[in-house]
Amino acid sequence: MNKLVLVTGGTGYIGSHTAVELIESGYQVLIADNLMNSRREVLEGIREITGIRPFFEEFDLCDMQKLIACCNKYEKIDAIIHFAALKAVGESVSRPLEYYENNLGSMINLLKAMRDFGIPGLVFSSSCTVYGQPENLPVTEETPVQKAASPYGNTKQVSEEMIADFLASAEGYRAISLRYFNPVGAHASALIGEYPIGPPLNLVPIITQTLIGKRSELHVFGNDYNTPDGTGIRDYIHVVDLAKAHVAAIRRLEERKGNEPFEVFNLGTGKGLSVLEIIAAFEKVLDMKVNYRIVPRRPGDIGCIYADASKAGEILGWKALAPFEEVVLSAWKWEQQINRMTNV
Ligand code: NAD
Ligand code: UFG
Repeated sequence: MNKLVLVTGGTGYIGSHTAVELIESGYQVLIADNLMNSRREVLEGIREITGIRPFFEEFDLCDMQKLIACCNKYEKIDAIIHFAALKAVGESVSRPLEYYENNLGSMINLLKAMRDFGIPGLVFSSSCTVYGQPENLPVTEETPVQKAASPYGNTKQVSEEMIADFLASAEGYRAISLRYFNPVGAHASALIGEYPIGPPLNLVPIITQTLIGKRSELHVFGNDYNTPDGTGIRDYIHVVDLAKAHVAAIRRLEERKGNEPFEVFNLGTGKGLSVLEIIAAFEKVLDMKVNYRIVPRRPGDIGCIYADASKAGEILGWKALAPFEEVVLSAWKWEQQINRMTNV
């Protein structure tokens, strides 16, 4: 029988793309999501792409009784990929308790479920925010983790510590933490993509919303950073590349290779792009103009970060492959698809 992977937050942006890659790699997928930031229709998108509708359970992972009922129902879960979390950095500063309650409460419950149901492997969605503004670039996994700049970032750091403490207390379990840089783009089919319940807050969907006319202009947050053009630099990784890394991580857990029960990997392209370079790429590929204005820095932003993802290459056999042009084309196709869906 095919292995069953519990994908928490699997109707969300990265989770839905990962569900597709898992199914296409022969896994059975069980999604647990309370739909606080995603929609049930995503299941249909996954089915249209793969021909298979994943199992779906709608509940809050902070509710231990519901999680126990889910684990009992599906009997043998082989591994968990834990995406479910609140993820807006700025919002976490104004609603810290909700972020700690949701992100840490769900994490504790999942570790308890691993222990009580003998689920041997966990892949955790972490973030490059754990590095703050590093002194040296690119960032490797050895780069020191800095005191988190936001409650959101702190939930990622504390979650990693909780996982490490759990693994130290019990034999036979393994986990991988994947520190994502900036996921962007959508599935080439435009059947799934980033479709949050509220307005998007990240650069790429704001660019596409500006292009399609949902916003009058894009605000570029600061041009006085210590970067060549003064705007912020990030490592933008195509979400489908990112999703494939989760399949590689699940395989690594299954093989039980290596001596370390807990491994950490950076997932990025290794290349930093500035906000103005991103705008220029959209303008060139789509032959359209992005209406933008420079405004003051966004509080909490850092100037520049990009990954050294060579450890993931060596150990997981994974590399980001998609050129940025594919990000542009898929993000634009997805924005047009959202426009069609909301105008019917
Ligand atoms: P998303 O909001 O699209 O997906 C998260 C999903 O989790 C949503 O479907 C939401 O409904 C669900 N969820 C949240 N809390 C839940 C709970 N208590 N019980 C059940 N379901 C719950 O976010 P995403 O962009 O797909 O991010 C996935 C993960 O990756 C998150 O952990 C996020 O912190 C992390 N991450 C994201 C980014 C990014 O830029 N998107 C970068 C680094 C790390
Ligand atoms: N930016 C703008 N204008 C906007 C939005 C963003 O100029 O309207 C700039 C930002 O200042 C930054 C860059 O575009 O320089 C990228 O910003 P995003 O909001 O797209 O992404 P962040 O790097 O701030 O953060 C994202 C996620 C976090 C995650 C982090 C690392 O939002 O959850 O990547 O993975 F932790």
